[in-house]
Amino acid sequence: MRILLIGSGGREHALAWKMVQSPRLDKLFVAPGNGGTATIAENVALDITDHAAIIAFAKAQGIDFVVIGPDAQVVAGLGDDVRAAGIDCFGPSKAAAQLEGSKGFTKALCDEMGIPTAAYARFSEEVPALAYVRAQGAPIVIKADGLAAGKGVTVAMTLADAEAAVSDCFAGAFGAAGAEVVIEEFLVGEEASLFAICDGERFIILPSAQDHKQAFDGDKGPNTGGMGAYSPAPVMTPEMLERTRREIIEPTVRGMAARGTPFAGVLFAGLMITQDGPKLIEYNARFGDPECQVLMLRLKSDVLDLLLGAAKGDLSGVVPEWRDEAALTVVLATEGYPGSYGKGSEIKGAEGLDSDVLQVFHAATKRDGNKLLANGGRVLNITALGKTVAEAQDRAYAAIAQIDWPEGFRRRDIGWRAVAREKAGTSYKP
Ligand code: AMP
Ligand code: GLY
Repeated sequence: MRILLIGSGGREHALAWKMVQSPRLDKLFVAPGNGGTATIAENVALDITDHAAIIAFAKAQGIDFVVIGPDAQVVAGLGDDVRAAGIDCFGPSKAAAQLEGSKGFTKALCDEMGIPTAAYARFSEEVPALAYVRAQGAPIVIKADGLAAGKGVTVAMTLADAEAAVSDCFAGAFGAAGAEVVIEEFLVGEEASLFAICDGERFIILPSAQDHKQAFDGDKGPNTGGMGAYSPAPVMTPEMLERTRREIIEPTVRGMAARGTPFAGVLFAGLMITQDGPKLIEYNARFGDPECQVLMLRLKSDVLDLLLGAAKGDLSGVVPEWRDEAALTVVLATEGYPGSYGKGSEIKGAEGLDSDVLQVFHAATKRDGNKLLANGGRVLNITALGKTVAEAQDRAYAAIAQIDWPEGFRRRDIGWRAVAREKAGTSYKP
């Protein structure tokens, strides 16, 4: 089988790393790929916003299967266009990807199906939105409706911050994504990420994970795409997993099918585990980055069973196997991320660290002869297995100590919630 993978992040390197282990794979192309995918597959310099160019390449190369990594391509409906050209594709339809592309769409589905989520109101004008915020008071959460590269959400702890966030949205801070604003109740609890591979009708829930969104230690600083992750997440007890399956995932898959927009692909539920149980914060219609990296390290069986089962509409009989070990990944990012940062600094010592229990997944890297260069914000994902999260954490940070990259930074506390639970003896083996 000849496969074209779309994307260039750590998520895509991890997917590529798993795919090249499949006996079903003959050739893997990654567009545009990164310095890591270049070593295991063939990178292709395609403009991934140009659907016609992707399809033309796929036809010329006899591609059997296209796998879409990033949110923007999923939401833009690349999957529909690839399928219309007669090529199998992992990636939901544009209609189904509204679960990621429109927070208002997801909220309406939650209402219709009784899915637990934060109470909310939607506004397309500033004056009533401000009046609502003043009536509700702080803390309160202000969200641009559309895709805003993870930056469209303000968790406002004061009324002044909330008012400023509303005004910024309507003043165009997030472009068209902020033309409509969703204002939400502030949920208290611990977050978790849960993924379900769906074929439109059936679904398979993957092991739980937890991301670290803030840039700095102690969950301080601005929100990022994710500075590290681990799996399993002990906050997802068997009871919480079962409730999430029953109260959130199952009605979503059923509701999307009933609407005539069945969801086939990976459904990514961002959850808040509250005192009343799991509540949906948001859906994404693609793998999380860096959650995908830890899940791929834990997956023992062939990832193509899952991806092809979803794409072909038949996951029956697919039973993925997972390692018992925990996995943890630490993101190395360029100093300045998620704000402005430079590109092109050299990273030394990141090669040759891979082993049975450790993988360095590349994100924004590129190669220049023998040199490895940073090429963006999130640059490397040092991903390790361990009998415990603490062991995986030790291994990841020991590997990071070998890497010489003065222009980079990382959080030093990835996995802290799970490690604290392990130390207190309140963890369990899911
Ligand atoms: P989102 O882009 O919707 O995932 O939101 C980004 C982050 O904002 C989430 O990961 C949460 O940390 C936080 N957040 C979003 N919605 C809420 C909410 N209703 N209550 C508390 N925190 C929230
Ligand atoms: N790590 C969260 C995301 O991919 O959106």
